[in-house]
Amino acid sequence: MDPDERDAAGSGGYTAPQDVDARHDWFARMRAEEPVWFDERTGFWHAFGYDDVAHVLAEPASFSSELSRVYPDAADFAEGELTAMDPPRHAQLRAAVAQAFTPKVVSDLEPRIAALTEDLLSGVDGDRWDLVTDLAYPLPVAVIGELLGLPPGDGELIRSWIEPMLEQQSGDPVVGEELFGERTEAIRQPRTELRDYLDDQCRRHRGTERDGLLSALQRSDMDGGLLGSGALINIAELLLLAGHITTTLLLGSTVLRLQQRPDLADELRGDPTRIPRVLEEVLRTSSPFTQVLRVTTDRVRLGGREIDADQPVTVWLASANRDETRFHDAADFRPDRHPNPHLAFGRGIHFCLGAPLARLEGRVAIQALLRRFPRIAAPHDDAPTFYTNPALTGPKRLPVHCLPTC
Ligand code: HEM
Repeated sequence: MDPDERDAAGSGGYTAPQDVDARHDWFARMRAEEPVWFDERTGFWHAFGYDDVAHVLAEPASFSSELSRVYPDAADFAEGELTAMDPPRHAQLRAAVAQAFTPKVVSDLEPRIAALTEDLLSGVDGDRWDLVTDLAYPLPVAVIGELLGLPPGDGELIRSWIEPMLEQQSGDPVVGEELFGERTEAIRQPRTELRDYLDDQCRRHRGTERDGLLSALQRSDMDGGLLGSGALINIAELLLLAGHITTTLLLGSTVLRLQQRPDLADELRGDPTRIPRVLEEVLRTSSPFTQVLRVTTDRVRLGGREIDADQPVTVWLASANRDETRFHDAADFRPDRHPNPHLAFGRGIHFCLGAPLARLEGRVAIQALLRRFPRIAAPHDDAPTFYTNPALTGPKRLPVHCLPTC
C-alpha cells in the first residue's frame, strides 16, 4: 500500500486512522496485504494478525517490554513500571502487586462497587446526562483510588491531568528521537503534576499502617529493596492510569452498543447473567487499549519477515481481535460469542492484572444501569465524541437519554 493512500485514510500523519471504522478498514487491509509491516517513516514494525500478535506476546525473551532499549529516556519511567519490565525483575514485582488483585480481594469489592454505582446513578441530574462524566469515568477512578489509598473525591483533579495526556499521544514516536521528547511536550506539565501528586501521596503513606496499596507495597518492601526511589510513583501511575481509563472506555463502548441495540438491552434486563459475555464481545470488537509495544532483542522472524535486533514493534490487539482466521464473522458483534479468546487484556506474562476487577466493575455497573433505567437512548441532537488517540477505543463523551423506572 502506498503511504499517500494510508494518509488519505485519515491518519493525519499517523499510520493508523483516528476514526475507528477507518482504522478497522485499515487493519483488515493490512492483515490481508502486509500482516507484518515496516513503517519507514517512523522505523516501527507493526503486527496485525492474531497468530503473530499472540506469538509476540508469548515470547518476552525475543520481544522485550523494555522500551529503553531504543528510547534511553524511557528508562526514567521504567523502574517499577510492570508493563516496561522483563523477567526476572518483572515476575518479582508482579507477584508483589498481584497480592492486591487476588480473586478474593476483587470479589470482596463487589458491594463497594455496587454502592458507588448506586450513588453515582442517584446523583444524575434529569433524564439527559453524560454516561462518561457521570458514571463511566468516576466509578473506576474511585475504585482504583480507594485501592491505592488516595483521598476520596480527587477523581476530577486526576482527570484534569490525565485527559491532556490521553489526547496528545497521537502517533508512534520516531525511532532515534526521545520517547518522551518534544513530541510529547504538551503532556509534560500535566504528567509532572500527576507525578508530584502521587509522590506526595506515597510520602504520606510511608511507614504508616494506613489502608491501601501505596502503604502495603511500602510495608512489604521494607526488606526486599524492590522499590527504589521513583519506582513506587511509577507503579502508582501505572495502576492509576491502567486501572481506570480502560474500564471507562469499556463501560462507554458497552452502553454505546446498548443504545444501538435496545433489543439486546431488554434481553439483558431479563437475563443479566448474559452481561459478562456481552462485555467480552465489547472488549473484542472495541478493544480499549488497541496496541502494546515491544522491542526485539535479537534477529527474529515474524509472519515471514526478518526483523533485526532492537527494533520496536507495535502489536495491534484491536486488529488481532477482528482476525477472520480466528473469529467467525469477526466484524460482527455477537453478544453470546463463546469461546471468545480475545487479546484485549494482552496475553502471557504481562496479562492484565486488573482484568478480574475490570470485568467486575463492568458487570456491576451495566446491571445497575439496566435495572434503574428501562430506556437508555441516544439523544438525536447530541452526538457522542471519541478519543482520537489511535491507541485507545471508546467514547470520551456519551450523551444518554434515560427514563427511570419511577
Ligand atoms: C477494560 C479494562 C482493561 C483493559 C482493556 C486492560 C488492558 C491491559 C493490557 C492489554 C495489558 C497488557 C500490557 C502489555 O502486554 O504490555 C494490561 C496490563 C496491565 N493492566 Fe490492564 N486493562 C484493563 C483494566 C485494568 C485495571 C482495572 C487495572 C488495575 C486496577 C489494570 C492494571 C494492569 C496492570 C498492573 C498491568 C501490567 C501487568 C504486567 O505488566 O505484568 N488494568 N492491561
